Amino acid sequence: MTLWKDPKWYDAKERIEQLDDHIHRTGQARFGLKTYVNNEKLEAVIRHFNRVAQKYDFMNSLLSFGIHHVWKRKAVRLLALKDDDWVLDVCGGTGDLARLAASRIGPKGKVVIYDINRAMMAVGRQKVAGSPLSKSIFWMQGNAEDVTFADNSFDAAMVGFGIRNLTHMKKGFQEMHRILKPGGKFLCLEFSKPTHPVFRMVYDFYSFNIMPMLGKLIVGSAESYACLSETIRMFPLPDELSAMLRNIGFHRVDYHRMTNGIAVAHVGLKVQSNGLLQNTNQNKSENGHGVVTGSVK
Ligand SMILES: C[S@@+](CC[C@H](N)C(=O)[O-])C[C@H]1O[C@@H](n2cnc3c(N)ncnc32)[C@H](O)[C@@H]1O
Repeated sequence: MTLWKDPKWYDAKERIEQLDDHIHRTGQARFGLKTYVNNEKLEAVIRHFNRVAQKYDFMNSLLSFGIHHVWKRKAVRLLALKDDDWVLDVCGGTGDLARLAASRIGPKGKVVIYDINRAMMAVGRQKVAGSPLSKSIFWMQGNAEDVTFADNSFDAAMVGFGIRNLTHMKKGFQEMHRILKPGGKFLCLEFSKPTHPVFRMVYDFYSFNIMPMLGKLIVGSAESYACLSETIRMFPLPDELSAMLRNIGFHRVDYHRMTNGIAVAHVGLKVQSNGLLQNTNQNKSENGHGVVTGSVK
């Protein structure tokens, strides 16, 4: 069953069309195979994750042969989290990155998962229910483009395979930068373009034939998984993403390719306006982080 015969990696001009400026100008935003009037994209994304939520984890493991766990472990390690850290997991979904982070911050640290989709978080909550990590993980429903936490609240902010889905990706990154304390660490784990042409051919065939077929069989939707492959091919390449992050204000931006570049982890730091780093632990009040506002459910 061939659904999409001619997989396409979008060129630089087309990739720019997925960015905030173009979307503001045209009022239109793409989500994979479809174009939406920009405010309607969010609803389409919510519907998409409502459709896949129950099988999301299973499909991730099946489609990546379990490798997504390795990517996530490596990525969270790059954050070099410390005891007592507060971490925001933007687009945290079913909580894989959050669980890894929670296991590295000691019993007094906290991870807040901030996701628009209740169904995804409900699956995640079941996964951690009864585990000691559940005491460190908090779940909050909200739009990553408008995070309800105060400026300079978190020691680390991470987003895994989620930023591609935002209508205004740059706004999402700006929010992550805003809520970080000076010295706070940033991580973005996303899919990208494999570097080896032969590997890329195999990957393209797999993405547009096998993945949609498995999506149809297991989730009942081939389009959901073809949509995933399309969004990946429109996403900024690693150097473009680095430039965007520096432009937003992140320092020491760097990236690490994994599995021939199928996944890429970008890291960065927020610094004070005078360019200095700050020991983030000095910010904490005696009973934790008095600076955080917003309701954590
Ligand atoms: C592909 S899943 C990634 C989940 C998890 N981070 C992981 O690595 O497995 C993308 C998540 O982003 C969430 N999401 C999409 N758009 C969002 C938005 N505007 N604000 C917050 N969450 C959003 C979806 O609900 C979904 O749970």
